[in-house]
This record gives sequence, structure tokens and C-alpha cells, in this order.
Amino acid sequence: MAIIVDQGKNIFTLHTKNSTYQMKVDELGFLLHTYYGSRIDNTDMSYLIYNMDRGFSGNPYEIGGKDRSYSLDTLPQEYSCFGTGDYRISALRIKNGDGSRGVQLYYDKYILNKGKYSIPDLPAVYADDDESETLEIIMKDPYSHVEVHLYYGVLEKNDIITRAVKVVNKGSEKIVVEKAASLSLDWISQDFDWITFYGRHNMERITQRSAINHGIQAIGSVRGTSSHHYNPFAILCEKGADETKGQCFGISFVYSGEFLMEVEKDQVNQTRLVCGIHPDNFEWNLLPGEEFNSPEAIMTYSPHGFGQLSRNLHETIREHICRGEWKHKRRPVLVNNWEATYFNFTGDQLVEIAKDAAKLGVELFVLDDGWVGKRDNDNSGLGDWYPNEEKLGCSLKELAERILDTGVEFGIWFEPEAISEDSNLYREHPEWVVRIPGRPPALSRNQLVLDFSRKDVQYYIIERMSDILSEVPITYVKWDFNRSICDKFSNELGPEYQGEFAHRYVLGLYRVLEELTTKFPHILFEGCSGGGGRFDPGMLYYTPHIWCSDNTDPIARLTIQYGTSFGYPVSTVGAHVSTVPNHQTRRVTPFSTRAYVAMSGIFGYQLDISKMTEEEKDDIRKQIEIYKNRYDLIQNGHYYRLLPPTSDMCTVWEIAAKDGKEAIITAVYHNVEANPAPVMVQVQGLNESGSYQLELDTVFWEDKLDEKVKNWLLSKLPYGYGEGELISGAALMKGGLVIPPAFQEYQAWQIIIKQC
Ligand code: GLA
Repeated sequence: MAIIVDQGKNIFTLHTKNSTYQMKVDELGFLLHTYYGSRIDNTDMSYLIYNMDRGFSGNPYEIGGKDRSYSLDTLPQEYSCFGTGDYRISALRIKNGDGSRGVQLYYDKYILNKGKYSIPDLPAVYADDDESETLEIIMKDPYSHVEVHLYYGVLEKNDIITRAVKVVNKGSEKIVVEKAASLSLDWISQDFDWITFYGRHNMERITQRSAINHGIQAIGSVRGTSSHHYNPFAILCEKGADETKGQCFGISFVYSGEFLMEVEKDQVNQTRLVCGIHPDNFEWNLLPGEEFNSPEAIMTYSPHGFGQLSRNLHETIREHICRGEWKHKRRPVLVNNWEATYFNFTGDQLVEIAKDAAKLGVELFVLDDGWVGKRDNDNSGLGDWYPNEEKLGCSLKELAERILDTGVEFGIWFEPEAISEDSNLYREHPEWVVRIPGRPPALSRNQLVLDFSRKDVQYYIIERMSDILSEVPITYVKWDFNRSICDKFSNELGPEYQGEFAHRYVLGLYRVLEELTTKFPHILFEGCSGGGGRFDPGMLYYTPHIWCSDNTDPIARLTIQYGTSFGYPVSTVGAHVSTVPNHQTRRVTPFSTRAYVAMSGIFGYQLDISKMTEEEKDDIRKQIEIYKNRYDLIQNGHYYRLLPPTSDMCTVWEIAAKDGKEAIITAVYHNVEANPAPVMVQVQGLNESGSYQLELDTVFWEDKLDEKVKNWLLSKLPYGYGEGELISGAALMKGGLVIPPAFQEYQAWQIIIKQC
């Protein structure tokens, strides 16, 4: 049993492999949070709570004069409430029927179930009954007549506890939920740092570590989507924690809309973290009897640093978030025509690219933006989901068949949530657009947003897309969305209900995705929002991988993919090889470097293969072969960050087989120094007693280097890379591995480590 309930003392203890989480109902009926950290026994951890009379931290009426040291303002709370004596950040804020904003929850009862709860209309972790347990704690406010159900899903083996809440109006008047966070977490006595992932279009998920000082720090989004700017994921860790040591807690929000993650260090140095839907654009009306369900937040704990924490999340997202036929199937190697042609193509040109690609081992051609209505640039045509047959030179079906004839599958780009002012759809349905009446809407990429909170809009998109997907032999859909949402207003909602728009939009999006993925289970859906602007576990529930960034420069990708790897597995990261100079940074990098970086993701190409030299084509053939051979290990192995992109010269990561018998190390010199110090890493995840052979991938340079450089390099190869030079797992893990030096700028190496 992962969940232990001490009924006498009203203590709830949740155990995972490495962590324990505990709550206790106190004598007044408040639910206190007593512990989250390394796995311990079932000790009542409330002995850690030390109350003192603190001026200006008042006392609940019931205890009043009896004990001035008892205060909701300092006690660790399981689900913090606004307006009734806890002045720290809160999880729940309710506007009552009389306009007041007080709410306080008292314990009522609990329900224990096998298996993992699900949430109506929202994505959530799923697991079999023998892998998971659910605890539901029901709390009540006897004054506001609000009932709150706190849900806990425990996946013991994965070191995962999930949280969600349901708010029910049990009173006789309408109430407004102004904030209903998915989780609130209090630590009594820890001094933390937190790591967050900020960014922008073309540079997503940059890692930032800051101290949690007194005051409130927050990340979030009010952009309608989870955003490029802050990922809905953070790590709280003890000072000094690193990849392999130290306690750390990961919080990942399973939601693709606006979110807020706040953390506060209070007057007595306690830390509180609250995470949920961003309250700025949120107000949910509850008539008597109605309920509101929050999205889910995932918590994971590692006593051994960030590496383990990431691997917990990787496994959970791979096995318990991603769904459908493609969950475990090898994803096809693709070529996408975006950076090859942008809007400027003909059907014949596309067929030429597909023909050459097929000969080299590519398995799928993806037709990107520019195939619909009047869309030769990004100023028009969005919303008109009818193929431009004049441009394609035939019907879409005929084009798909011509592409299929070359030997590859056919995939296609959609941006269903967007609409251009210059489109027939806009002319017919101006009321379907998100905008505030009487106010000109902000444009972004010269486009507007379709009101996905509306049923008729959802229906239209499902119909249009279904028609195309049923008629044309399409096996892959890239679902894009290229702007943030402001001017929030829906013509379908009355004035009191406008605060529901942002969340209703996300529910509408999920509904459309659910219908389409259910109706077309064989189609592989790729998520995208100007690259990684909606890279979150909510989207991954529908689209098992996401285009990670519009930036395809492998050196910039080192930072982007490094940051992404903290919360997401390789199997979710779309990564393509593009041409040089790179279109985003103008940087020139070796072909093999571009390929090695893209191989730590869902691999493909975004360049005009038909214009490449025979030598380059030969390299593509080899790259694809290598990727296909190593696919299983890359997608399902254990991921280790060995040297970050902020290190002096080289970024290094490793993917090891779960049994430790094989590993791939990828090392990219992001900086070249004269007379360089050796680059050394400690390999992880091998078997200590095993003997390992190192093999350096030389296939991309062997026959291209001039003899002098080649001889120099071979003479400089560190010990271990030669024939018969075996090294033990213990030595590689404790002593380390020397990465061969670079012989050119942006050199990349791939080293295969195999147990003999
Ligand atoms: C976004 C995507 C790109 C491409 C363009 C098309 O930027 O991220 O990959 O599809 O839109 O307009």
C-alpha cells in the first residue's frame, strides 16, 4: 500500500519509492501539511511544527484567547485559503454570494481507491490499477458552503504524486471561484533554490537558478497558452543540489493555458509553493450544485539530484501521459518543407524533394504552411482549410498520392486556432474571432484567434479537418499555433462569464484534439506553437511529440534541448537537421553536428534534399541509418546531462540502456579553445563490474579529412578508443571518460559504450 491512513489520528501518509508525503487533521479540523521529502516510516511528522505567539498573525475564532500561538498564518497548510487569517499566497479564493472573499476549509472525510483518478475534460496522468492509488480528501467550509475535493494520485514506482482539486458549490447562492490552484505545498524548514525555464520564440526553456528569498517569486503566462516565455515546470532544490546529489522537488503542470507558479518564503523562513491556472484571467461562476475541476499538477521527488528527478518525469510522461497508437511505435524519419521552401513551392517541387528523400531512407514528407486558400505569405488565408489546387497543380489528394508513390508517407500542417482577417472564414464569421467589442484587436503575425470556447467553432474545425483527413491519405498532422491570445472576450458568453473565457478556450482545444485523435487513431499528431510555445504535458496527452523550437541551429539547440530535458523525455522533442548558414542564427556548423543534435529527439530534416550534393546525400543516408539503429536506446534509455552548455567548451549528454549494457555519449564543442584542457565526464548508468569497449563514430569524417588532420586526431585519441582497450564500468563512472579533442569548430562526437 502506498497510501496509509491512520484513522485514529487522522494522518494520511503517501509513500513512493523514494519519498514520503504526509498530512494531518488537527484538533480544529484543519488539514495541515506535515512532510514531503525522503522516504521515512509512518511517524507522525507534526512534531516538527513549532508554534509561537507571533504578533499580527491572528488566531482562529475557535481557539481565540486559549492559545495565541496557533495561527493559520504560520501553520503549514495542505490547501491554503484566502481571506481568513493566512496572509501568505493562497490556493483558493472565492467570492461569496454576499461579495465577501473569505473561505476556510475543514476536514470532512476521505475516500481511498485503487487506480488513478481522471479529470473530466482535462488531460491527466493515467495508470493501471496495480500501478497507482488515489486518495480523495473532502473538505468543507460550513460558512460559505463550499466543498473542496483534494485528489492525490500515487504512482509509487515512478516517485510521482499527482494533485488536482474539485470545488463544489453546496450553498444556495452563486459563488465565483477566483483562484483554485491545483496544488499548494508548504515546507516547514528548508532553504531552497528554484530552477525555472524561461525563454522567447526561437530560444525556449533556458535554465535559470535563483535563491528563494523572502517575498514572492513567480513564473506564469497570461498569453492564452503555456508560452515560450516560462515553461509550466520548476524544480525546488536544496542549496548545493546538482545533477547527482541533493534533494529536489519537481512540479509540472498538466495544462496548456495560462498558469501561475508562485513561491514564497514567509516570516519564519518557511516556503510555500502554489501552482495552478493563472488567476488574472480567471473567474469561474458556480451556481448552487455546480462544480469546477482544476487541471492536474505532477510532483516528483529525488534525493539524488536533478538527473533522477528528470528521469522520473521522462518515464511518467512517456508511459503515463502520452497515449495512442504512436506511444511506443518508432516515429518516422521525416522531411518537412518549411525551411526548404517556406511559402514558395509548387506541387512538382514538393514531389522532387520527396523523391530524393525516399531514396535516402526518409519515411515521411510533411507539407508545411502555404497549401491552403490564398496563403503565399503569412498575411492571409488562415481559416480557409481548402487546398490551393492552383498552387499545388492538382488536388491535395492527388499530390498526396504522388508523394506516396515516391515511397514516403504524407503529412500536413494545420493552424486550426488561427484566422486571418483576409480570409473567407473571417468574412463569413467575424463573430468567431476573439476580440473585445468596440476595440480593435491586437494583431500578431498579422493574424487573429478563433474562439475555441465556442461549440460551433469547435464543430467547424472538427468537420473541416475530418473531411481532409478522411479524403486524403494523411498519416501525420502538425498542429501549429502562432500567436499569444489577448483581447479576451467571447461573443457567446454573458458579461459575468467573460472571466471563464481563457479556461474555456483550453477546454475547447482539448475537446477538438480528443475528437480528432480518437477519430483518426493511426495519425501521428505533432504539437507546435511557433516551435515550443506550448510545450507542456497537457499537449503531450494528445500529441506525443512537439516541435521543440523554430530555432534549428544545433548550437542554440544545445541550450534549448538541455533546458527541455529537465522536464521532458527525448521522445517528445521534435528536432530537425537544417541547412547552413542556419536561417535563425546564420551560424555554419558541420553536417554531422546538426545530425547528432537532432538525433537526441524525434529526428527529421528541414532542407531541400533535391538541391544537395551527392556527398551530402550520402551523409543523410548514413545519418538516417545510424538514427534508426540507435532509435530504441535513444528514445527509451535513461538520459543523463553530463556537461551543460554553459561549460567552457563542450556540452555532453548520455543516453544509457536501462540494463546499463550500452550507452551513447554525445559531445558537442560549442566553443573551441587553443591549447585546450581535456574535456572529461563521469559516465553514468553503467554496470560497475562490466568491461566496456568505447567506439568513436567516425563515419562522417573518415574519408573526408586530409591525412595530416586525420593522423593528428588518431594520435590524440585518448586511451580506451583503441582496439581491445577495455575499461570497467566502475572506472568510467568514478574515474571518467576523456572526450577526444575537436579538429574543427563545432565538432561533435558520438561515442558508443558497449559492455563486452
Ligand atoms: C511556425 C512553426 C514553423 C512553421 C511555421 C509556418 O513558426 O513553428 O515550424 O510551421 O509556423 O508558418
